[in-house]
Amino acid sequence: MRRLLPLLPTRHGSRSRMTCLYRCANQCDHPVPNQTSNPYFGDIVRSALSRRALLKGGTGGAIALGLSGLSGTAMAAPGHGETPHHEGRGPHQGRGVDRLDWTPVAPNTEDAVVVPDGFEQAIVVSWGDPVLPGAPEFDFDHQTAEAQEQQYGYNCDFLAILPLKGDRALLVSNHEYCSEQLMFRDWVDHESATEEQLRVSMAAHGLSVVEIERVGRSGQWRLVRKGRRTYNRRITATTPFEVRGPAAGSELLRTEADPEGRTVLGTFNNCAGGTTPWGTTLHGEENIHGYFGASGPIDEAHLESFARYGLPTEPAVGRNWMKVDERFDLSKHPNEAYRHGWIVELDPYDPNSRPRKHTMLGRFKHEGATTRITSDRRIVVYMGDDERFEYIYKFVSRDRYRPGDRKRNSDLLDHGTLYVARFTGDGSNDGEYDGTGEWIPLTSDKESYVEGMSVAEVLVHTRLAADKAGATKMDRPEDVEVNPKTGKVYASCTNNSERTEDQVDEANPRPSNRHGHVVELEEDGNDGAATSFRWRLLLVCGDPEDPETYFGGFDKSKVSPISCPDNIAFDGSGNLWLATDGNALGSNDGLFALPVSGPERGYVKQFLTVPIGAETCGPVISSDQRTVFVAVQHPGEVDGASPDDPASVWPFGDQPRPSVACAWRA
Ligand code: FEO
Ligand code: CA
Ligand code: CA
Ligand code: CA
Repeated sequence: MRRLLPLLPTRHGSRSRMTCLYRCANQCDHPVPNQTSNPYFGDIVRSALSRRALLKGGTGGAIALGLSGLSGTAMAAPGHGETPHHEGRGPHQGRGVDRLDWTPVAPNTEDAVVVPDGFEQAIVVSWGDPVLPGAPEFDFDHQTAEAQEQQYGYNCDFLAILPLKGDRALLVSNHEYCSEQLMFRDWVDHESATEEQLRVSMAAHGLSVVEIERVGRSGQWRLVRKGRRTYNRRITATTPFEVRGPAAGSELLRTEADPEGRTVLGTFNNCAGGTTPWGTTLHGEENIHGYFGASGPIDEAHLESFARYGLPTEPAVGRNWMKVDERFDLSKHPNEAYRHGWIVELDPYDPNSRPRKHTMLGRFKHEGATTRITSDRRIVVYMGDDERFEYIYKFVSRDRYRPGDRKRNSDLLDHGTLYVARFTGDGSNDGEYDGTGEWIPLTSDKESYVEGMSVAEVLVHTRLAADKAGATKMDRPEDVEVNPKTGKVYASCTNNSERTEDQVDEANPRPSNRHGHVVELEEDGNDGAATSFRWRLLLVCGDPEDPETYFGGFDKSKVSPISCPDNIAFDGSGNLWLATDGNALGSNDGLFALPVSGPERGYVKQFLTVPIGAETCGPVISSDQRTVFVAVQHPGEVDGASPDDPASVWPFGDQPRPSVACAWRA
């Protein structure tokens, strides 16, 4: 039987082998699943390569390209009638973090959250903290699934902060995956895991809703530990979900346990996400392939799609969840794989609500989902498919947003059109844009635009549909997010070690792209429903002394080094905040901020660093601009580390515990 999860996979970039194993089931060790002949940027913007050569000229080269000359246009108001995607910003405090006036944190390898002088930081909530009233205290050496179901999950990722009355708020978290080697003292591998260990792991996945409170009048927030906690909730790998949209009930989603194809148990590998204008949260189901195994051969009808998604195509153990729940055995229940890989929606304000899986938003390795409202009040959702050479998507709703009508607004995600992006280089040398692009419709809720595929097939096998549509292969598109001040859209491409010399271009400008880059898109007419856009590079990350890097045209001698941009956030002034995953420059991951307009466009400054082995996830700047929240994911996830020999003791001096931290001006 093929083991999907060997103990010592190849190390990729600066990420530890352990991270590759647990988070993505070593997908980088497998052949790139996108073997189509769809265009790489390099194929379509070859003529612009001479401009890239200019970039290589050093600090002044970018200015020669004119890529930075945006000070007069970048703060243009959103299109008529278009509202920012985050409603209800609080009063501006004057000393908010959005002033970007702090001295950058230097790159370091401290086992700590390091913040700028003049700031403080503290833990908000940690893995194992009691969440549900009556939940037991965390006990590392006596973990049970029953306890974990009531406690904060492992490896927090996306974070949303939603207001409550007074000095309370809701903190909604994704728990992307588990690093079982650091969770259990006697862990060997998934194949030999005990059933209870596997159940603990299933309960540590999913989502958490917790109430948090301000500490005094400061910018510090902490978990509410006692008394009334109306909204606290855990969603795990076994929580029932309602399937919504055109693929709900389709043949592809029916299983023995759910012959109607409308109720799915659980969500897992939730990476990034977003907050909707009606106050719910969206969560991507990303690397779902590693959770499935197969005790025997896979039915032939599924092989093409399984291969395209990295799912088992032959007997495999995977995370061995099939040992405790047969639905994860794809030789017996192949359709179960099609019931994961969606965007899910949670209403944190209604603890009794059944969360939803939205089939209209397509099925792929969803990083996140961020919304905007168009000029005619329809809803747009931007989404990246995070794997090497995958695509960027968006959904545009059929119906209009109605402020205040929460129930009807949730249904907006059931009807509309799903598009995938195709980028074209403009070949010009005017410097303002690097090229144009179009959104290719894949399907509406009624009509498929992909030959030979039904609506449900396009939604379930979205990668296959996008292949046929000729979408453009990107360098691991992660978060895609709209600047609430300008309507411009930013997509971070984390890295792509597989891109070869003949596949490079100005939008994916480096072979063996270890440090990643950020693309800036402008929808035509600044309308989220537009079917065409223009684009340019904002950042080509790495060591600023590396001539191949580019920082929006800003003086590279002044910027912080940045590598592997992943999650995106905006502050109340429209500054871009970037969290990094896998810093390939030899220091810890961190959180960075930069203006995207004005004379300091591209002036990247590091705001914090996270502990040894950790990744920075889920950045949120509070609406009053006083507090920065980050999820510190997988601290201590360093090759060879174990509970008896931890690589990090953050945050409490013993075992590393994934936690949400907050930072504020002292
Ligand atoms: Fe879970 Fe794409 O990072
Ligand atoms: Ca991510
Ligand atoms: Ca984000
Ligand atoms: Ca990532």
